[in-house]
Amino acid sequence: MDRRRRLAIVAGVVVAVAVLVVAVVLVWPDGDRDDRPLAGSGRPDSAPTTAADAVEPSPGAAGIGDPYYPAAGNGGYDVTHYDLALTWDAEARHMTGEAAVTATATQALSSFVLDLAGMEVSAVSVDGEEAAFAREGDRDLRITPAGPLAAGGTFTTVVRYAGPPTTVPGDEFFDPGWFGDDGEVYALFEPDGAATLFPSNDHPSDKASYEFRVTAPDDLEVVANGRLTGTIPGDGVRTWVYDAPDPMASYLVQVAIADMEFAEATGPGGLPIRHAFDTDVAGEFDQVMGRTAQMIESFAEWFGPYPLVSYGALVVDESLGLALETQTLSIFDSTAAGSEEIVAHELAHQWFGNAVSPATWADIWLNEGFATYAQWLWSSRDEPAALDGTVRRAAASGSLDLPPYDPGPEHLFAESVYTRGALTLHVLRRTIGDDAFFAVLRTWGERFGGAVATTADLEALAEELSGAELTPLFDAWLRAEALPAYDDWVP
Ligand code: ARG
Ligand code: ZN
Repeated sequence: MDRRRRLAIVAGVVVAVAVLVVAVVLVWPDGDRDDRPLAGSGRPDSAPTTAADAVEPSPGAAGIGDPYYPAAGNGGYDVTHYDLALTWDAEARHMTGEAAVTATATQALSSFVLDLAGMEVSAVSVDGEEAAFAREGDRDLRITPAGPLAAGGTFTTVVRYAGPPTTVPGDEFFDPGWFGDDGEVYALFEPDGAATLFPSNDHPSDKASYEFRVTAPDDLEVVANGRLTGTIPGDGVRTWVYDAPDPMASYLVQVAIADMEFAEATGPGGLPIRHAFDTDVAGEFDQVMGRTAQMIESFAEWFGPYPLVSYGALVVDESLGLALETQTLSIFDSTAAGSEEIVAHELAHQWFGNAVSPATWADIWLNEGFATYAQWLWSSRDEPAALDGTVRRAAASGSLDLPPYDPGPEHLFAESVYTRGALTLHVLRRTIGDDAFFAVLRTWGERFGGAVATTADLEALAEELSGAELTPLFDAWLRAEALPAYDDWVP
């Protein structure tokens, strides 16, 4: 749904609810006012009918309304927690899963969809009762519970499924999904590949907490987002339990199973740091990864306290030519792990992209522009004057005639989204001054941490904290086709 229409509907609902609340207050027997039950929870028959009662349960939409990925995510509910029990058969390269997805219905639902690509589904239940299910298109599992689900109610869906590693169609770099090489597994889901591993509302606007219980042969190690809370030995296998309490977008899920070595450290404020290295490459990255605590300290000064429960790098023995900021555990291939700039970039995403996530994929520059700028800040930390040189070189680097905001789905990770996005931030900084600029970066996390934000939110915040009228700046740097002349903006 388009944002304006959604706002109009929300406004309509607010007015309707206000009218009903007044009506209820007027007709309610006097003495009962204080312990009046909430709408929908055991209202007496005599109470007036609410708007929700009047709406017949209807099927939840098979898409959350993203402008670039219309099939990603779904309508009608909001997930609060995923409990994923996964069992990896390394020899058969086959995963068996049981996913318990707890959600709140945002409408009365006769059926709803979870994103799931590939995988064979064997059973589905909703609140313990067997539910009907059917596959729709390439990535949808439509579930019809035994009875309709009330708007505002919480429900838990359990899906049993199994299958080999798969991907969904992506760009020239890779198809998002999970990969099993020999007996090993790792995940690269951005933007819409989480559906290949577990049934989900696969869109960053629906963040949730996670728990992972992953069983693998006991000669392999398992890492996932969050903190290891325990391991349970079994017969030739071991179950690893990870708790990821910070709200997380589905594309940031990491589950990796491999022959790995761990390196532990402590960051600012006792933050647990744990890196996981594929044993084939262990020892090669001690120097760069050894700087993690120091990087976190610098970033915390600039951006506000580290926003998540833990951090670490996961280095796989692959040459994919990329890294991904999977939450609390960024994944690097063996080339990316050697680059201090990339290591800083993925760490910065924990603030920008992970704690605060893009409301839609058109807002991707809020991830990549910020992480790129953070990487420049880190590189010039001992010589701040060098930053201007970096910025000028970047501004002259070409292929930046593409707006960082709403670049189009085929340009989601284009150079301009990164570099011109970062240039936008530098121009903003030079325009409003260091104090206001760093206040924007810190307030961003305070205000939107754990949730999502839009480009409009950033613009409004920058204007609020600087008192400046910044529409011309953001129009030129974020939305115009042609790259503005840097010297026209920063004399
Ligand atoms: N978000 C990743 C980063 O840290 C990049 C992912 C690239 N993905 C792609 N499909 N090209 O910059
Ligand atoms: Zn990035």
